[in-house]
Amino acid sequence: MTAVKSICCIGAGYVGGPTCAVIAYKCHDIKVTIVDVNPARIAAWNSDKLPIYEPGLEDVVLARRGKNLFFSTNVDGAIQEADLIFVSVNTPTKKSGMGAGRAADLAYVESATRRIAQVATSSKIVVEKSTVPCRTAQSMRTILEANSTDKIHFDILSNPEFLAEGTAIDDLLKPDRVLIGALQTPEGIRAQQALADVYGHWVAKESILTTNLWSSELSKLAANAMLAQRISSVNALSAICEATGADVDEVAYACGRDSRLGSKFLKASVGFGGSCFQKDILNLVYLSEQLNLPEVAAYWHQVVIMNEYQKKRFVRNIIKTLFNTITNKKIAVLGFAFKKDTGDTRESAAITLIKDFIQESARVAIYDPKVDRQQIVMDLSEPGVVDTQQQVEKHVQICSSAYEAAKDADAVVLVTEWDEFRDDQLDYAKIYDGMHKPAFLFDGRLLVNAPKLRKMGFKVNVIGKTELAGKA
Ligand SMILES: NC(=O)c1ccc[n+]([C@@H]2O[C@H](COP(=O)([O-])OP(=O)(O)OC[C@H]3O[C@@H](n4cnc5c(N)ncnc54)[C@H](O)[C@@H]3O)[C@@H](O)[C@H]2O)c1
Repeated sequence: MTAVKSICCIGAGYVGGPTCAVIAYKCHDIKVTIVDVNPARIAAWNSDKLPIYEPGLEDVVLARRGKNLFFSTNVDGAIQEADLIFVSVNTPTKKSGMGAGRAADLAYVESATRRIAQVATSSKIVVEKSTVPCRTAQSMRTILEANSTDKIHFDILSNPEFLAEGTAIDDLLKPDRVLIGALQTPEGIRAQQALADVYGHWVAKESILTTNLWSSELSKLAANAMLAQRISSVNALSAICEATGADVDEVAYACGRDSRLGSKFLKASVGFGGSCFQKDILNLVYLSEQLNLPEVAAYWHQVVIMNEYQKKRFVRNIIKTLFNTITNKKIAVLGFAFKKDTGDTRESAAITLIKDFIQESARVAIYDPKVDRQQIVMDLSEPGVVDTQQQVEKHVQICSSAYEAAKDADAVVLVTEWDEFRDDQLDYAKIYDGMHKPAFLFDGRLLVNAPKLRKMGFKVNVIGKTELAGKA
């Protein structure tokens, strides 16, 4: 196998865009073309305002765009030109049909694979970058092999992406590991090596792990399930802390100091969001059910159930604290993205909370530094949340600062852990002055120094902590 000279990435989203931009940044000898069926997305990648916010992304793109990095809607042309093709399309949870609500919808993966099979005029290495159920490569192989000839051969690799939104560029430049799964045939192993050589431009050899295809596919689901499990575990403990006077930060710190556990991903919160954790766990649940392993399915499902419980518990606590009604009260929601340093709102806890506030007839004022008005209205207008955009606009005020959102509010709710909401950055005395009294603050991210804010006059409520913590 000769060295890869031309890469095509199908899907210019949160994964395909940053991942392949970093490949272009680190491999000047490789031409990288990122394609998408969405012309608006491609136009944004070619403009001054990239379609996604990610620290460091703009520098990487601007350094290589027009040199060896291209964004295009010409999917067929890029497929034909490439030696290696990443399939990095979306794999959402199925909304209807068999496995609805659990199984991954593989329609986009299949359609991209069929396109490759239809238009390829030379041999290709096809790489699953999307997160897929274990053994999806088998279906891709069947489609591709049905179209292979003596002259055109397809190799399939699994190369799941472990980047985290908000730190994607750092994660890609210094990955903990790169995982490449291949069929253990001579051709498969050669293709695996060709992709390893691409990453070898900047990733140390010992950080590039090679496995069989199925281990690679399952490892991605397993890693996300275990990460989410840690969050649900600490969130479950936060409920015990609130009922006993233990402090969840102290408990997490004490547990995390055990080197077998480690300190990361032990921060209690209002619940995890993002496009991946819930979808990938549900995917694992479905896979377990399909394999007739009901106990295994129930075990992983509990991680998602705990996450929903945590969000509901937070809302119930807010309503109870605000004298059992929030009707006509103004609630300022600080943060709408699912976590800091991203504009991504998919599965954000903010959506669930605001939906509940609106159902209780509260007035909601929202501020997020990176999510625009149109995105917020669209997310809240989804069926089952609020039916029309006009209704959203009636209940919701979208603000351009935390101070505007908190003006005349009865409660401030911290939902996203943006640094600018920390008590050393935001002027909480000013926020307090502008609010109705008593001024309630609910910290869903363990972000602020509660005793300090209590001294200002706030009634502060923090997940996993009680005001009386530590007192006998
Ligand atoms: N977002 C993350 O943090 C993350 C991390 C690791 C893995 N993943 C996985 O990576 C995959 C992609 O995720 P994402 O967040 O980038 O999704 P995304 O929705 O942001 O992007 C997917 C893109 O694929 C395009 N697309 C769909 N079908 C296409 C086709 N046939 N031809 C050309 N373009 C097509 C869509 O228009 C869209 O722009 C998913 O499987 C996801 O689970 C995501």
